[in-house]
Amino acid sequence: MKILNFGSLNLDYTYQVAHIVLQGETITSSGLAIHPGGKGLNQSIALARAGAAVSHAGQIGEDGVMLKKICAQNGVDTTFIETVPTRSGNAIIQVDEHGQNSIILFPGANRAITRPMVDKVFETFGKEDCLLVQNEISCLPYIIDKAWEKGLKIIMNPSPMDSRIYECDLTKVSMFILNEVEGAQMTGKKEASDILDRMRDLFPDAEVVLTLGSEGSVYCSQDILLRQEIFPAEIRDTTGAGDTFTGFFIAEYLESRDPKKALETASRAASIAVSREGAAGSVPTMKEVKSWHKEV
Ligand code: RIB
Repeated sequence: MKILNFGSLNLDYTYQVAHIVLQGETITSSGLAIHPGGKGLNQSIALARAGAAVSHAGQIGEDGVMLKKICAQNGVDTTFIETVPTRSGNAIIQVDEHGQNSIILFPGANRAITRPMVDKVFETFGKEDCLLVQNEISCLPYIIDKAWEKGLKIIMNPSPMDSRIYECDLTKVSMFILNEVEGAQMTGKKEASDILDRMRDLFPDAEVVLTLGSEGSVYCSQDILLRQEIFPAEIRDTTGAGDTFTGFFIAEYLESRDPKKALETASRAASIAVSREGAAGSVPTMKEVKSWHKEV
């Protein structure tokens, strides 16, 4: 099985700040770093570092050469990363003293994806394969329809959540991986148990993985409900931790078909990621996750 991750690639401009800037306020940052990022790229790197075979499909501008390079260096198949005459996507990220962040996205080349580009990518994938998508690129409804037509298993991380998600035929999704904020937006419910009940009503055939920050994570299908606590770690930068969780959950789940093991592996990987700076750069390898496993 090949994993096709159709997703964003961003240049992350990460500013270290004492606190997230308030309305009308001007603050001075204590540092700026430019990291590879984008939910799509971060998840591809996480899949690859977890040992999965992943092809990334997406678009960059000429300023984004390093994004394709870092994917290739991590073993991601970059055949379907196109360079287009538009700026690459970028993100302005503030990280405060507690490692918490706030992000503004400029979509750039990520939202210049066209149907002919999508058609070309899908020529290579079929019913043995799996599609992963987030919500930072154009043509998402078309990508989902195309994957469905070709019989791929569809996994969606509806992040960042906005009205464009509802343009997709969500009944075609086999698995949702989302956090409690996205879960609340999709269901109108606040409590985790209510979110899961509503997701089950809305999408009876889909598996759902809900992450709950410090409260851990939950996996649920029609007949199984599993909970996983977090593994405490010193928080330096939470950027990309959710993407690390997603990549490791999918890689472990597709390999072992064991959702319990997948939740545990993903939680350990996310804990390592929050203890490091940056997005893609903070993703551990499966080897690190396994050896960290022994120490905890
Ligand atoms: O999930 C973290 C990512 O969100 C960052 O890398 C940024 O690029 C935005 O896409």
